[in-house]
Amino acid sequence: MEVVIVADAKAGGELVAEAMARLLRRKPDALLGVATGSTPLPVYEALAAKVRAGAVDTSRARVAQLDEYVGLPADHPESYRSVLRREVLEPLGIPMDAFLGPDGTAEDVQAACERYDRELAEAGGVDLQLLGIGTDGHIGFNEPCSSLASRTRIKTLTEQTRVDNARFFDGDIAQVPHHVITQGIGTILEARHLVLLATGEGKADAVAATVEGPVAAVCPASALQLHPHATVVVDEAAASKLK
Ligand code: F6R
Repeated sequence: MEVVIVADAKAGGELVAEAMARLLRRKPDALLGVATGSTPLPVYEALAAKVRAGAVDTSRARVAQLDEYVGLPADHPESYRSVLRREVLEPLGIPMDAFLGPDGTAEDVQAACERYDRELAEAGGVDLQLLGIGTDGHIGFNEPCSSLASRTRIKTLTEQTRVDNARFFDGDIAQVPHHVITQGIGTILEARHLVLLATGEGKADAVAATVEGPVAAVCPASALQLHPHATVVVDEAAASKLK
């Protein structure tokens, strides 16, 4: 595992965007795995700036979703499909037909999860998966004690994650769904390159457990230690508890 410490969130965004741009120059139809949440926004902004400047061509790029709320209609403004359309696809000029994601409204959720794992494999697998990290060490919505071999499946959000995400639902926790479909840890580990971005002091304990703790389900992100090509990009605040 490679750990890169940068000054701040903007520098982290620029560094990860450049890694994505290099990938797209080498492989124009690369499948980019993207996360939602606040942390990756500087990455998407920096990559969009490169697209506008003509420094990278995204016309053949493909995008895959990491997780999705269960039960929110696809066109709900806070479904992750909608969020990614607004924050990633539109700014990068990537059409929705180049987007892969699980169906959070499927009647048979289990079948939808299995279908998504199959679709990812049939698409050739994710080339670069961008991950954020929860304060409890979750990646995707694999909360602590998720199996490190897990596949895409339905998970119940912890109360803490629902509280954290209420900010996207007018601060009203009652509107935050209880369940999500998330790529499993085993699914995530199949991406060719994993890039975990963490910024801010609030992530410092989770980063220390990820990088220096044992590989253990209590810190799902520690599974990155098992991956042959994992990069952890942290700002100085998130790195502050590393030895
Ligand atoms: C979202 C996701 C989550 C977030 C994590 C951190 O798709 O997979 O694991 O990355 O909850 O969220 P932020 O970046 O908002 O702190």
